[in-house]
Amino acid sequence: MSVSPTIVRTVPALRRAVDRLRARKATIALVPTMGALHDGHMALVALAKRRANKVIVSIFVNPTQFAPSEDFSSYPRTWKADLGKLAAENVDLIWNPGVETMYPQGFATRITPEGPATVGLEDRFRPHFFGGVATVVGKLFAQVRPDFAIFGEKDFQQLRVVERMARDLDLGVKVIGSKTVRERDGLAMSSRNVYLSGEQRVVAAVLYRAMKQSAVRLQAGGDIQAAMAGGAEMITAAGFELDYFEVRDADTLAPIASVKDGPMRILVAARLGTTRLIDNIAV
Ligand code: PAF
Repeated sequence: MSVSPTIVRTVPALRRAVDRLRARKATIALVPTMGALHDGHMALVALAKRRANKVIVSIFVNPTQFAPSEDFSSYPRTWKADLGKLAAENVDLIWNPGVETMYPQGFATRITPEGPATVGLEDRFRPHFFGGVATVVGKLFAQVRPDFAIFGEKDFQQLRVVERMARDLDLGVKVIGSKTVRERDGLAMSSRNVYLSGEQRVVAAVLYRAMKQSAVRLQAGGDIQAAMAGGAEMITAAGFELDYFEVRDADTLAPIASVKDGPMRILVAARLGTTRLIDNIAV
């Protein structure tokens, strides 16, 4: 039987609800989201339930991580469906602040992450992005004070930025990455997949195939440049405009000099028409 989660929209109400959970000695896992929930998000919730007794999901489309030219106003908002999915999973609390609660009049403090936030991947194409993410996630951590926070590996650079921030600022939260959930053809689940036309949706699966092909060549000890050029070519031949297709150190996201350097990650960002998709896999 599903029970409707408690929904809170103000910081004092959130504090009271969290205090009630804490009084029962509950451990708390936070799943930060921007809503438009799909099976990838529900995998984060499932992991949160395995890690902690109580699960809080935040739903907030964060304006500060979108550039003025990006899709903040058209970003999918599916509140009713989201609520149904979270109720079915017996999530304990939904934290759903408005913009005026998160960024009240006169708001003047931002977190500016460095390290993994400045390695020349997403930050090269979306310079505003990680400042916005770090600031909102820092606020969410301060508001909820969770023991655990679950982030999808699909946004791999974001995961590394948030892990670093939690450590650097002693935020007392363990950040946990959750494996990317894929469609049957390999396309990573994303709230932005709804922007793709039927034809583009078929083409989009090439990102995964290209990463796989390059990963196999790297695993076989092949030349890095040639392995990556082959994958990049597959993607552009399918009609994508490529922002990056790179292999990096999986921990630091620094460029790698040799396939013997240790765990690697292939990361891609590419545009199909007006839709920008990102993805990554372990090598
Ligand atoms: O990954 C997302 O959905 C967002 O970047 C996050 C972490 C919820 C911050 O707004």
